[in-house]
Amino acid sequence: MKKKNFVSKKVEALAPSGIRAFFELVLGMKEVISLGVGEPDFVTPWNIRETGIFSLEEGYTSYTSNKGLYKLRLLIQRFLKQRFDIDYSADEEILITVGVSEALDLVVRAILNPGEEVIIPQPCYVSYGPIVELAGGKPVFLPARESDCFKINPEQLEKACTKKTKGIILNYPSNPTGSTYTKKELDTINRVCKKHGIVVISDEVYGDLTYDTEHVAFPTLSGAQAYTVYLNGFSKAYAMTGWRVGYACGPRPIIAAMTKIHQYTILCASIISQMAACEAVQSGKRSVEEMKKEYNRRRNFMYEALNETGLSCLKPLGAFYIFPSIRASGLSSLEFAQRLLREQKVAVVPGVAFGKNYDDYVRMSYATNYEQLKKAVDRMKVFMQQCTRKV
Ligand SMILES: Cc1ncc(COP(=O)(O)O)c(C=O)c1O
Repeated sequence: MKKKNFVSKKVEALAPSGIRAFFELVLGMKEVISLGVGEPDFVTPWNIRETGIFSLEEGYTSYTSNKGLYKLRLLIQRFLKQRFDIDYSADEEILITVGVSEALDLVVRAILNPGEEVIIPQPCYVSYGPIVELAGGKPVFLPARESDCFKINPEQLEKACTKKTKGIILNYPSNPTGSTYTKKELDTINRVCKKHGIVVISDEVYGDLTYDTEHVAFPTLSGAQAYTVYLNGFSKAYAMTGWRVGYACGPRPIIAAMTKIHQYTILCASIISQMAACEAVQSGKRSVEEMKKEYNRRRNFMYEALNETGLSCLKPLGAFYIFPSIRASGLSSLEFAQRLLREQKVAVVPGVAFGKNYDDYVRMSYATNYEQLKKAVDRMKVFMQQCTRKV
């Protein structure tokens, strides 16, 4: 048989996820404390699980409307009105997706023509660059500095905008840094986006896990609802990663275009998960607050303990990640992560997974129980002592 390359050039050229590659290493190792994976250590609150079970018992096993259960869209509409005072039509401006992951993929495919650019502030969630490339667009990375709390400023954004710029993917609170934007900062960014007429894809999946400050949704900014696609979901705040439910809210033409792709590729999110999500929106607030309280306790501990250990870091204001500098170790982020894993059995994610400028950092997730976090920090102390002795 004539040997053929079965894989498309586009996919072949795509770099594998830095996180996944590293966590292949962790699998199969014993007694590892993992601060690597970005998912809650809590199980989904019982009332939400029970609704899922009940929906199965009652025989809810069919497809739903492509747009998602009408009841869920109505509940989301009400939730956003109450929380942020924004209005979306449940019929035409809200789409239920398979996690925020699917919504991200749909939105870039819905808006991009070949070669159009999408600005992506870094450090950023690992999927942003690849989904833009897969959609035929060009990711334009905009690195933010630690001295700016890992946030971009309007001057930087202005410089990055070209005639080919179609959109920007914002994510706050941020994975991997935990930093978030104030209303004042968002206003300045919004002014640039409005001036250049670009689509703002606002990934606010950690919006409900914001500490010390109030989360400001991008579509609430002056005029922004007309060009913003707001993305949120149930994975993080409600500890529902495995249920795979998210949603996108935005201008009608974009939501209609996303729905077109979604109906041909996915059809709909699972009905069981959507019914559980209805329960989450209706009565999950208290559980979210309880989990948030515990994340906050861990955040305060990690911030103090890591700084004492020589791993200097900013205090995260949201999500469940902390992004310490490893400069004091004298190692690259990959060496640091590999040696910490081998020598002390603690798994963290190398900073380069989030952008090439971040080799001086690692990402740690504090979605791990408090006792484990304490143990992990003790192990890191030993590790840092060994590193600094040799430097
Ligand atoms: C910033 C960000 N966006 C989106 C996702 C994907 O979320 P979902 O489980 O809703 O697909 C993640 C998951 O880690 C994330 O960190």
